[in-house]
Amino acid sequence: MTTTTTVSPSKTGAPVLHLIGNTPLIPLLFPAEGVTIFAKCEFLNPSGSIKDRFARCVIEDAEQRGLLTPDSIILECTSGNTGIALSMVGAAKGYRVTILMSEQASHERRQLIHRLGAELILFGSGGRYQTGIDLSRQMAAKDRRYFLPRQFENPLNAADHEHGTGVEIVRQAPGPIGVLVTGYGTGGTLAGTGKAIKAHYPTARIYAMEPAEAALLAGECPCCHTIEGVADGFVPPLLRDAPLDGEVKVTSAEAMTMTRRLHREYGLLVGTSSGANVAAAVRLARQLRPAGAVVTLLCDRAERYFSTALFAGDPPTTGEAV
Ligand SMILES: Cc1ncc(COP(=O)(O)O)c(C=O)c1O
Repeated sequence: MTTTTTVSPSKTGAPVLHLIGNTPLIPLLFPAEGVTIFAKCEFLNPSGSIKDRFARCVIEDAEQRGLLTPDSIILECTSGNTGIALSMVGAAKGYRVTILMSEQASHERRQLIHRLGAELILFGSGGRYQTGIDLSRQMAAKDRRYFLPRQFENPLNAADHEHGTGVEIVRQAPGPIGVLVTGYGTGGTLAGTGKAIKAHYPTARIYAMEPAEAALLAGECPCCHTIEGVADGFVPPLLRDAPLDGEVKVTSAEAMTMTRRLHREYGLLVGTSSGANVAAAVRLARQLRPAGAVVTLLCDRAERYFSTALFAGDPPTTGEAV
């Protein structure tokens, strides 16, 4: 399972990293609902998710601060997208990467991490995040080669979204922004983009999308949901800094339905949290009828979910041989 890269760090100049960010903001019309929302296409980042931004930012910051050496090993506990993104940055720059993931993580995520040359360590204990985070700290305490990006507590996470994603949204929106709504994993996206939008449009309202089955911000107990990549059962520290005006609950079933609509009616091959975000945005657009644009994010690609409930029951092909 372990693959060690032999390229020295930054040797190739990592051209793939220039493809990160500056993703388009596209209008999505919902004629039956009588609304238009604007969606930031983060699934177009090179490794397929919004997490490419943090991965590049944290590694380049560590390089600038002299924290990485050719024998450094980037070590992170993640539910998938951050692991794929860090593995991509590691592959492009020539760093070893070790990813700690719950044994419940989908097979395609594991395969992508492996293909990008990173080492994967799976942990059990019901797949609880804290188990993996504790493990990463123990490993780092024993071996000085490990560098921990710490996406859940690293302020760079939110700062990069504030100066990157958020500024892009303000620049790309067709006019004033009335509402931003998106889910949270680490809370970095919501805190950072929320701040950038409020700084420019102080009357804009910022909402967190939460799975209805795990609506922690709404004061409810976490339970099982199938909107992967968001709401891991705790309120992340970075979210405390988010300029939140409220939360919107979306059920896993609603998220699946909207995600399939995005595939079939809009040609957008995105993951379940993107469907949840769009469902929340459409609901807010209908309820609030804000003067400014309603903005949300399409966080990752559908291909990451072939083995999950999103594609359950789909035949491999509906074509007939002639
Ligand atoms: C799949 C996925 N990844 C990442 C994020 C953003 O997470 P974070 O709060 O860690 O910035 C989201 C948010 O909706 C998501 O759906």
